[in-house]
Amino acid sequence: MAEKIVLAYSGGLDTSVAIKWLQEKYNMDVIAVTIDVGNERDFTAVRQKALDTGAIKAVVIDAKELFVRHFIFPALQANALYEGQYPLATALSRPLMAKLLVDIAIEENAAAIAHGCTGKGNDQVRFEVGINALAPELKIIAPAREWGMTREETIDYAKKHGIPIPITVSSPYSLDECLWGRAIECGILEDPWTEPPEDAFTWTKSPVNAPDKPVYIEIGFDKGLPVTVDGQEMDGISLIQQLNELAGEHGIGRIDHIENRLIGIKSREIYEAPAATVLLQAHQALEAMTLSKDQLRFKQKVAVECADIIYNGLWFSSLNRDLATYVISSQRYVTGTVRLKLFKGHSTIAGRKSPKSLYSLGLATYDKGDEFDQSHASGFIHIWGLPVRTQAQIQLLGEPEGPLGITAPEKIEGD
Ligand code: ARG
Repeated sequence: MAEKIVLAYSGGLDTSVAIKWLQEKYNMDVIAVTIDVGNERDFTAVRQKALDTGAIKAVVIDAKELFVRHFIFPALQANALYEGQYPLATALSRPLMAKLLVDIAIEENAAAIAHGCTGKGNDQVRFEVGINALAPELKIIAPAREWGMTREETIDYAKKHGIPIPITVSSPYSLDECLWGRAIECGILEDPWTEPPEDAFTWTKSPVNAPDKPVYIEIGFDKGLPVTVDGQEMDGISLIQQLNELAGEHGIGRIDHIENRLIGIKSREIYEAPAATVLLQAHQALEAMTLSKDQLRFKQKVAVECADIIYNGLWFSSLNRDLATYVISSQRYVTGTVRLKLFKGHSTIAGRKSPKSLYSLGLATYDKGDEFDQSHASGFIHIWGLPVRTQAQIQLLGEPEGPLGITAPEKIEGD
């Protein structure tokens, strides 16, 4: 009897060809698994296509709720943004997919798992590190990395085997979509000097054509999680979908990132992430009101670390778990409402409030009702400046660079 292999199946050209290729090359029975993380698709048709192409079994898993609860929301609470730009949509979906693929492989008594990634990207790393962490006994096969076919040859292979060529093959771009965003790569976008053409974008209107009147929205957070839009309670999936539409309509969430891939390549990545952009902005605005200066400073470092962990495929590491625990603890008082103005490609914070706000009008005001006792300020400054004053007297004032204490830039030797 042929061994079974579970294939992460998207319905696209490569993974369809992979069904046939795995049968021919490895003589394995393919179980196609398609995971719905909010990539709008006709999943019935995808499943049928897998069966028509020769899979012995094809399943579609709706993983949207798991994705929001265990991946998107924790990343939002952490403010995870890779290199300050990419909200990590694709990167967050891969460990979830790895987990679901492993579950099915075990259930089906399969010997291996296959994915459609090439050898040049991050996704191969995320899939394989995840699968290895959860079930090291499973073999992993990456057909598109192994077969060495060009795009043309892949299309020929599909034609020869009667595999229908998806219309998306005519698209000049390579795409990956989920609830948290849309990644657009390849074609003309590979030239970092070329502005992305309008046809690269489908979730966001061009800011030029966005409505001429701004719209205001209010997002309510409970312990760092978004729970309402304009006062109306919503589940996480609907909330993200609604914000993708609304902010996308106003041209918000286009990202153009020269990104450092884990495998060492710089690549030009275009993203559309309207909901992620607005939610990350609103969440940080509320944290600014409810976390102390020290918490904010420390949490910024954690955010960078979390983003790298997610990007680099280390979701199932203990460090990720440890940091997640810290992040949740930090969100205890991140409750309140943020008001945003959406207008022609930009969202701006128009207001924020929280029952646990640390902002005190009595302390901040320059008007009546000032509670800040200014008489303590000079004593504070005297002590705060003590080490600088001491060192300046003893050392800096005597140095050849003079009292500015800084070597003038023209004196620094260049290379
Ligand atoms: N550069 C992004 C990342 O590594 C997006 C990758 C998109 N994936 C894809 N298979 N097209 O997360």
